[in-house]
Amino acid sequence: VIEYLYLHFPFCRHLCNYCDFYKKVPKDTRELERYHQYLTQSAFELDKLLLAENEKLGELKSLYLGGGTPSLWGSEGARFIQKFLAERGWSLRADSEVTLEVNPGSWTVQGLSDWWEFGANRTSLGIQSLDATFLKLLDRVHSLADVYETLEYFGNSKINFSVDFMLGLPYSEKHQRNIGAELERILSFNPSHLSLYILKVPKHYPHFSQLPDDEWIEHEYLEVSRYLTERGFIHYEVSNFAKPGLESQHNLAYWRNDSVGALGPSATGYLAKSKLRYKWKTEKPEFEVERLTHEQVELEKLYLGLRTNRGISLESYFPEHELALGQLVERWQNRGLVLGDKTHCTPTAKGFLLMDSLMDDLFGLN
Ligand SMILES: C[S@@+](CC[C@H](N)C(=O)[O-])C[C@H]1O[C@@H](n2cnc3c(N)ncnc32)[C@H](O)[C@@H]1O
Ligand code: SF4
Repeated sequence: VIEYLYLHFPFCRHLCNYCDFYKKVPKDTRELERYHQYLTQSAFELDKLLLAENEKLGELKSLYLGGGTPSLWGSEGARFIQKFLAERGWSLRADSEVTLEVNPGSWTVQGLSDWWEFGANRTSLGIQSLDATFLKLLDRVHSLADVYETLEYFGNSKINFSVDFMLGLPYSEKHQRNIGAELERILSFNPSHLSLYILKVPKHYPHFSQLPDDEWIEHEYLEVSRYLTERGFIHYEVSNFAKPGLESQHNLAYWRNDSVGALGPSATGYLAKSKLRYKWKTEKPEFEVERLTHEQVELEKLYLGLRTNRGISLESYFPEHELALGQLVERWQNRGLVLGDKTHCTPTAKGFLLMDSLMDDLFGLN
């Protein structure tokens, strides 16, 4: 039974120059109608797939509306989704987590209140930086005033909200970005959760030559982790921090390798029992399927286990390398990369940052 559903809304007011997600600026109102048709047809295709795999969508523990900029969908979106779920007999559990991504400058009070009425009870605000210099460099369409207007609204509401930030921004060294000061300001609005992603861009990114070096990024990342954990947040995944008990249930499902349904152009879903991943095409409501081998699933579980504070038993993955594994984990401990031992090991913040090199070390055992 699938209890988590992701829905991708692929429209934005403006396309930020660093962004690699599937999205576009709608040309006219017909684009939205076409998107609604796309969702309707893809729900039909998804039902067929689930039937063939002997699966079904149960009462949802989580519905995540991501994008793109789903807050632009407004009242019309809330009405559409309500009807869309009801017509298919898909329902939300009474205690389900319903998350809406919101961008400053891309929402209205009426639009949001229709989402609350529908059942949305969590938002993720795309803040990225609280410094106007960096908002401009990032090519964000909204102003710093829009950001504060959004924060005031959420800070004064009872809605549980998370904020997204980005680290490793271009010109960080030149302008001496002060992430601690930005975090201090953001915490005054009382978010329950923060996600901080290190900017990843291809070589043709306009400010590629101005990205900070590894040393700067390490310092910034460790500073963020120290600052937030000292203030009661749990660093529960590489890029995510939450007040105790307020971790994103939706993302935890991904990090457990649980089944997650997905709809919308470019969205990816996973059926754990069938080890089947499917990805929606962007131009028509069809998906591509990838069936994973047992080894691929085990490798993903290892990687996902190391990404969260749940940690992992490395011994069970590398039983034939017991001695070398013990020595490796000891070396990691000495470098401050992990806590625990080979029977149960959890990365520290520094370990999270050096995740790829931990994985390389593990595969060097063979
Ligand atoms: C799916 S995006 C959409 C969020 C929303 N539309 C916005 O712009 O704020 C979710 C988050 O991914 C992060 N992100 C987007 N592009 C990124 C990139 N190139 N590298 C790292 N993180 C990125 C941002 O923090 C963003 O808030
Ligand atoms: S608003 Fe968000 S999804 Fe849209 S282009 Fe910018 S970063 Fe990407």
